[in-house]
Amino acid sequence: MRMVDLIEKKRDGKELSKEEIEFIIKGYTCEEIPDYQMSAFAMAVYFQNMTDQERAALTMAMVESGDQIDLSAIEGIKVDKHSTGGVGDTTTLVLAPLVASVGVPVAKMSGRGLGHTGGTIDKLEAIKGFSVEITSQQFTDLVNKNKVAVVGQSGNLTPADKKLYALRDVTATVNSIPLIASSIMSKKIASGADAIVLDVKTGAGAFMKDLSQAEELAKAMVDIGNNLGRNTIAIISDMSQPLGFAIGNALEVKEAIDTLKGEGPKDLLELCLSLGSQMVLLAGKTNTLAEARLLLEDAITTRKGLETLKTFLLAQGGDPSVVDDVTKLPTAQFQIDVPAKESGYLSNIVADKIGVAAMLLGAGRATKESVIDLAVGIELRKKVGDYVEAGEALVSLHSNEANVDEVIRRVYESYTVTPKKVKPPTLIYKEIR
Ligand code: URA
Ligand code: CA
Repeated sequence: MRMVDLIEKKRDGKELSKEEIEFIIKGYTCEEIPDYQMSAFAMAVYFQNMTDQERAALTMAMVESGDQIDLSAIEGIKVDKHSTGGVGDTTTLVLAPLVASVGVPVAKMSGRGLGHTGGTIDKLEAIKGFSVEITSQQFTDLVNKNKVAVVGQSGNLTPADKKLYALRDVTATVNSIPLIASSIMSKKIASGADAIVLDVKTGAGAFMKDLSQAEELAKAMVDIGNNLGRNTIAIISDMSQPLGFAIGNALEVKEAIDTLKGEGPKDLLELCLSLGSQMVLLAGKTNTLAEARLLLEDAITTRKGLETLKTFLLAQGGDPSVVDDVTKLPTAQFQIDVPAKESGYLSNIVADKIGVAAMLLGAGRATKESVIDLAVGIELRKKVGDYVEAGEALVSLHSNEANVDEVIRRVYESYTVTPKKVKPPTLIYKEIR
């Protein structure tokens, strides 16, 4: 086989075989195929798309390019959840203990990453003593014992994806449904998931700005998962405005604790119950989605989920008393309200703009080397559809710098107030299975 012939075949819109795709991914991973040929191939895929069989083969070839996590020593069906980005998305912190508390194993491998706030691991490190530096044996034992553990990403997972994603980034080929879908799904499958629940975001703060694109991506991922024997479903949820009220690491931990107490933001709770019921159903704990939801609602009312959070924190060295006393979380030196300039209804809070404002305060990483300030962030006081009086706070900034002029400017840029009543946006658009 010659790479040039395979590029030509894809360029002309023909379907590649599984063997041909394996040849490309193997060759690229071991550097027999150079970046310039892979770039041309990615561009050919960008314009010519891939069939379902090609997408599944590409995903599996990337899975097989590196280590695969073996979770077979963990009892039960391991369901993983993945969100495609977003701003202030606190769902994992709520879902992991909540779903575990009804007996579904949550073996979460997580990262730090770039973005408006840290990743799940950064957020958890706002809890004194908490560590994800556990061995794979400890990880397995903890999930078997407590039904939940979080471990940092280790090993050489999907190196082909890592290389290809970086190449796509500089060759204008990121925005291709078959390439995005196989990239995300290869990482989930290599992490050992038996079943996968996807939360595909749509709106200003999302990767996929419009609903039809989000839907196409969701369908592509669900098809790949199911073609590769992993039961997969997707929910398409709103990310036009941030989820919940908190954007920031310690602030989101507090928000997750509130939610497990049944006192959290309505939208965050609703999304967690929706995603969580899908997880419980895929894990085979119940026969219907409605039963799964009842189980989770009960775990909130009885505080079973909250208790599981304490057990989980303690098992990984964290101080569980923060759950009852959130003042033990890191707090910022200054809390600065940003008042509304006029009265009216909030019609828009541009999620990514607010996200960037939170990052400017130090809540997230702009580059891999950036250091996160776990205490800082933004608390929304109003959300789309709410009425606000002039002078009332739109948001509270939690800052360790006194000068926040630039952040305030960006907050005003992301808020729109209108005299007319506004309906809050739909939270969950669709379910794709
Ligand atoms: N996220 C990924 O992991 N891969 C993509 O290709 C795009 C977003
Ligand atoms: Ca939030």
